[in-house]
This record gives sequence, C-alpha cells and structure tokens, in this order.
Amino acid sequence: MSTRDLIAGTAALCLAAACALPAHAQVQTHYGFGTAAAPADLAKYFAIAPDGSGLPPGSGTAAEGAKVYAENCSACHGSQLQGNPAKGIGGDKLIGGRGTLASANPVKTVESYWPYSTTLFDYVKRAMPFSSPGSLTDDQVYSVVAYVLSQAHIIKPAETMNARTLPRVKMPNRNGFIPDPRPELALYR
Ligand code: HEC
Repeated sequence: MSTRDLIAGTAALCLAAACALPAHAQVQTHYGFGTAAAPADLAKYFAIAPDGSGLPPGSGTAAEGAKVYAENCSACHGSQLQGNPAKGIGGDKLIGGRGTLASANPVKTVESYWPYSTTLFDYVKRAMPFSSPGSLTDDQVYSVVAYVLSQAHIIKPAETMNARTLPRVKMPNRNGFIPDPRPELALYR
C-alpha cells in the first residue's frame, strides 16, 4: 500500500468515525502529511541551561520539598536520600560522597559530582519521578530541589529556590570539570 493510499484510508476512517482534527493539524504541511506543531506541543520540549535561563516562574522550600520527596521519590531513592539497591525500582544515592571523586571508590551523587544546581531542576522536571515523569508542578520541582540541596548541606534549610536564587547556588564540584572545547572538530569552530 502506498503512503498516499494509507493517508486516504486514514482520512476515510476518520470521516467514518467522525473524528475531529485539532485546528492546528489542518495546516498544509510540506509533504502533505504530518501535523504542524502547536505552541502547546513545543512547550513540552524545554531545556534549562546551566546559567538558569529557561527556568519557569514559581518557587519552593525544603519544608514543602520534604513532603514532595516522601510522596514521590523516597520509595526509590530512600528516606534518607541514600539510594535503593533494589532491582527494578532502584534509584541512585542523591547525597553524600563529597571528596571521594579522586579516591579509589568514587561516590557520584548530586552533592559530590553535579557542577550546576540548575541541572537538578531540569532533570527532575524532565525525568522524575521515574514512574511518571512530568507529573510534578514547577513549584513541586523547586521544592524538592530545595530539599535535596538542603539535605546535601549546599543551601540552608530556610532558603527559597526560584528562577533567581537557584542559579546562584554553587555546587561543591563546580570547578571539578576540565573545559574541553574540542577546537580540532570543525563543528565547534
Ligand atoms: C520508580 C523509581 C523512582 C522514583 C519514584 C524516582 N526516581 Fe529518581 N531515579 C530513578 C532511577 C532508576 C534513576 C536513574 C535513571 C537513569 O540513570 O537513567 C534516577 C535518577 C535520579 C537522579 C539522578 C541521580 C544521578 O546522580 O544521576 C535524580 C537527581 C533523581 N532521580 C531525583 C528524583 C526525585 C527528586 C524524585 C521524586 C520527585 C525521584 N527521583 C523519583 C528512580 C526513581
């Protein structure tokens, strides 16, 4: 069956089932199939840069984050953020390990390894909880980020995390990475 037949077939099926396409889907596309992405679709794809650009409005504290953590994270990452070795749901240890990176047994955690606090927001919003990523509100993400950073003794327990304060948090391993701009690659020239 050709692509054209397939599309015609789909259209016939849609007519029969009286299925309505969203308004933006009716835009004429270059190859005659597919749908144009609406702003709401594109909003699902975001990236928060190390300097915090892209961080949304909202805020949260460790006290609120403790509740978010207990309900959404501790089953996999442990009640003390110590990680869970269980197969299947095992989540990483999130805190501790400072000063171990250059040792024979490096313990890589958010506290010991991650160079930017903003990555924690980006990663949690994008990928956690592992079982239902994207289910937390921005306030909940700010809160749980504040909780992890406070349990790691990187921020004080009462500090509020938002788009202004989070990028200012200096991670313990901020200077532990060596810049590697790869000038020999044409791509980066
Ligand atoms: C169902 C289990 C599960 C739940 C619930 C869960 N996580 Fe995770 N988490 C994981 C797994 C598995 C990984 C490793 C993912 C990978 O390497 O791709 C991970 C990785 C992470 C990491 C990266 C750790 C590192 O050093 O690379 C962070 C940070 C994190 N989770 C935070 C959270 C937070 C905050 C919550 C609650 C909002 C949460 N997780 C809920 C299972 C879970």
